Amino acid sequence: MNGELPATSTVSRLAIHGGEPTITRPGPHFRWPVISDDTRRAVLRQLDEAVSLYDRSGVVARLEQRLETALGVPHALLFNSGTSALFALFAGAALGPGDEVLVPDYSFFASSSPLFFTGATPVLVDCDGSGNMDPEKARELITQRTRAVLVTHMWGVPCDMDAFTGLCRDRGLRLFEDISHSFGATWKGRPVGTFGTAAALSLQAQKILPGGEGGVLLTGDDELFHRALALGHYTKRCLQEIPEGHLLHSYGVTGLGLKLRIHPLAAAIAEQQLDTVPAVLAGRRRCARRILQELRAIPGIDLPPIAEQAEPSWYGLFFSLDRDLVQRGLVADVLAALRAEGCCEIDHPKITSPVHRYPLFRDPGRVHPGYGTLPERDFPVAEAFSARSFKLPVWHEEADDPLVGQYLEAIRKVMNHFMRGGDGA
Ligand SMILES: Cc1ncc(COP(=O)(O)O)c(C=O)c1O
Repeated sequence: MNGELPATSTVSRLAIHGGEPTITRPGPHFRWPVISDDTRRAVLRQLDEAVSLYDRSGVVARLEQRLETALGVPHALLFNSGTSALFALFAGAALGPGDEVLVPDYSFFASSSPLFFTGATPVLVDCDGSGNMDPEKARELITQRTRAVLVTHMWGVPCDMDAFTGLCRDRGLRLFEDISHSFGATWKGRPVGTFGTAAALSLQAQKILPGGEGGVLLTGDDELFHRALALGHYTKRCLQEIPEGHLLHSYGVTGLGLKLRIHPLAAAIAEQQLDTVPAVLAGRRRCARRILQELRAIPGIDLPPIAEQAEPSWYGLFFSLDRDLVQRGLVADVLAALRAEGCCEIDHPKITSPVHRYPLFRDPGRVHPGYGTLPERDFPVAEAFSARSFKLPVWHEEADDPLVGQYLEAIRKVMNHFMRGGDGA
């Protein structure tokens, strides 16, 4: 346990027990994305420029090129969602029935759910204490049928990329990254999304690079890129960008039959937001340093480990409750007490939780022919992480510093109460 409990006389009554709330300003306390006048102007300009693009031109070409340059990746391909980009990644890799892909149990479900449509089997892997996929547990699940590993850098904290690149190299597997939470994060100074064969990210409104809705596939693998184009970008893009001698060029008019293009207005928003990413990341990193430093000194709080090689993007900041509080069944009481103190932005994520809990991952074959069945297994670390961890947003503007201070004060107050043996009643 870290820190020391203050003298009883300095502990004030919890708001949930009728005391004064720490934060009286009404929420929301975290507004994202930042829609500025620049964003509005970008959308208005785009309305005049084009609201549908059939080829790699205009805002789509500009944004794809900028992402390729920023990440040093040969191909960036825009999609209408992160889910579509992940589908294109799996389909682009020509995965199919009989193939297995190791995927995180603890992630947003769309990190792996599009795999079902390829006929390949997602093999869920438990996480380590950071919430990221455990490379050793991944190694144990490799079979003759394993073709690839997909990691998600959860909440913006990079996975151990030395371990995953080593594992994939040793076992002849392809490495894929879901960087929806981690755009701008680095491992040993290298951007996540550049470590494997391909990566995908979401541009959904909450993300660090928001377009409202949208997604991006990143790859240096030409064949994967051509198949991804064929999957969702029929006619012009296929005919112009897939070489004439390639089999898929002859399918160019229809592609593989789907249309998964991004809306140009979403691309225009993302293009404008890309300008703001460096300042946002710098601000979030400054804020996260302060939050971590202060949380470390609060009794009853455990912080997930972050490797020194990792520079997170701070999509969210997680802290966990002392196991003793969890055993006393107080997680919901602590959250209720924090909310009563006015901490409306502290969250216990529900949808992004161990996916093995969902019927889609327990009994997929019942809802769609060809989805197959998955074996029942336990994921104790993912369950424990999800059960005892809370998420804080990470603010990026100095104007929010006083609010950050109030959140920390509220957490200190609530934890003092519970660590002294108090309960939520
Ligand atoms: C880790 C992760 N992967 C994939 C997705 C899916 O992205 P989208 O909502 O753009 O389809 C999300 C979205 O929240 C996500 O958080």
